[in-house]
Amino acid sequence: MNSPVMQGLNLQAPAFVKNAKLIAWVADMVALCKPERVYWCDGSQEEYDRLCQLLVDAGTFKKLNPAKRPNSYLAWSDPTDVARVEDRTFICSRNKDDAGPTNNWVAPDEMRATLQPLFDGCMKGRTMYVVPFSMGPLGSPIAHIGIELSDSPYVAVNMRIMTRMGKAVYDVLGVDGEFVPCVHTVGAPLKAGEKDQTSWPCNKTKYIVHYPETREIWSYGSGYGGNALLGKKCFALRIASNMGRDEGWLAEHMLILGVTKPDGKKYHVAAAFPSACGKTNFAMLVPPEGFEGWKVTTIGDDIAWIKPGADGKLYAINPEAGYFGVAPGTNTLTNPNCMASLDKDVIFTNVALTDDGDVWWEGMSDAPAHCIDWQGKDWTPQIAKETGAKAAHPNARFTVAATNNPALDDAWDDPKGVAIDAFVFGGRRSNTVPLVSEGRNWTEGVYMAATMGSETTAAIVGQVGVVRRDPFAMLAFAGYNMSDYFQHWLDLGKKLEAKGAKLPKIFTTNWFRKGPDGKFVWPGYGENMRVLKWMIDRIEGKVPGTQHAFGISPSYGEVNWKGLDFTATQFEQVTSIDREAWAKELQLHEELFQQLATRLPAELKRTKAQIEQRLG
Ligand code: OXD
Ligand code: MN
Repeated sequence: MNSPVMQGLNLQAPAFVKNAKLIAWVADMVALCKPERVYWCDGSQEEYDRLCQLLVDAGTFKKLNPAKRPNSYLAWSDPTDVARVEDRTFICSRNKDDAGPTNNWVAPDEMRATLQPLFDGCMKGRTMYVVPFSMGPLGSPIAHIGIELSDSPYVAVNMRIMTRMGKAVYDVLGVDGEFVPCVHTVGAPLKAGEKDQTSWPCNKTKYIVHYPETREIWSYGSGYGGNALLGKKCFALRIASNMGRDEGWLAEHMLILGVTKPDGKKYHVAAAFPSACGKTNFAMLVPPEGFEGWKVTTIGDDIAWIKPGADGKLYAINPEAGYFGVAPGTNTLTNPNCMASLDKDVIFTNVALTDDGDVWWEGMSDAPAHCIDWQGKDWTPQIAKETGAKAAHPNARFTVAATNNPALDDAWDDPKGVAIDAFVFGGRRSNTVPLVSEGRNWTEGVYMAATMGSETTAAIVGQVGVVRRDPFAMLAFAGYNMSDYFQHWLDLGKKLEAKGAKLPKIFTTNWFRKGPDGKFVWPGYGENMRVLKWMIDRIEGKVPGTQHAFGISPSYGEVNWKGLDFTATQFEQVTSIDREAWAKELQLHEELFQQLATRLPAELKRTKAQIEQRLG
């Protein structure tokens, strides 16, 4: 039987693994990492249940009350391992300029020399899980395969939800298929006979390393989210963006949604927002009052792989199979579809445990009189008032299969993907950037996306609320030089236009403008449908919009306000363009352009000059 206990350090791959390169690589990695056991995952339900039980026995998981939350678990991480570590994330291309000024770079040989002693014996006393996964529908021409070797059973069970994981991947891989090798360790080897002293082993030294030319991922020291579930940010964005540049496609930090009008006409929108800025909410949007007959359906909530079809259209798939979403702030009003997705079969990480064996987080509902917070301490509203302690970590997450989502789009698993009609880039800015604007052409759209600014959130270790440029919401995820990435977008647009294709429109949004009282003016969530409808009206050529220095925005009268009391004055507060603020904003664009100067496309400099001219 292929079980961790019975298999022992059996290098004999199971009969369903036939790929010689894979078998040889696993043998090499076993020799390096020296695990006590090797376990080849088959992706079955039986295996998932067994590994979850193993995590319960180890104290990493608590099984939640099955009457409240069937088949669900709660994990609390080490308090030092709670988010992606951007300052420990490296793009190790041969040439420093190929990683570019926005990525941490170390020469590959030097990084390999640093990692060698860290990985040598890093899995001692642990099981190495061999996790086969497909990013995208199995066998889709847009999909790609990865194999993650990890000493974390938490990673193995999360990967089963987040990707198409299991035996069938080996069938697609065959004897000589290609895969992206991903090695992950929590970096906490055990001495002979030693037992874990902690339920969340990790190491204070962390390395999240990508070798773009050889398409490899090496992750050391963290067991959390994007640091450890290597299919997500590491493969689907950093390595895949390199594949996309070389092969003429796009790997983007974008949700994908379908929007169906009352007349039955359907559009597809891909939208990029910085981390923890409501992507899952937008992807699962429930149309508000005034939008009877409209329907929004989810294809993906975080990442899109987009390839040009023979017809010149851009076809997108969601490479993932689950959602690893931010829990705090999610409730039945902000995202009812998401709340319904979380009824069962969920892994929660770093939320609070209620006295009746369920979960709670800030913003979910009225606070319970008592619960155990994400650090295992007693929490009451009084304690929170006195100490500011949060019941859930602000970057607490849920892991849940896409198939739990009641608003899942019928085409979410379609190997062909869906044709994109519009791209949306959403910044998070308390001022300056209007609610919505449309680029007058592809280049202006690319300029808007390239210069996007955002206030940082808890998804990243570091200071929260600082404005930084986050081009295309890809600052942390473009696996190569950001200027080359801009050029790739410009080139793709030109190539498609040359074929006579109608390019998707490009919009920017900002749901986060604040009024003089410091509060958000725009209600957001389901009300974002009003903006989405305006975009579709623009695609259908129904409304002229209002031209301004940076593009085209709606006039008050072009938005459907039925069911919402939002005055023209409030609208002015979220759409006004303050010349002085924009003059400063353009200086910030200039700073970004200076940073990226070496390879910055001339077209973007020209676009900036045109905006300056229009501003006078
Ligand atoms: C995420 C992120 O987890 O962007 O999706 O950080
Ligand atoms: Mn993300």
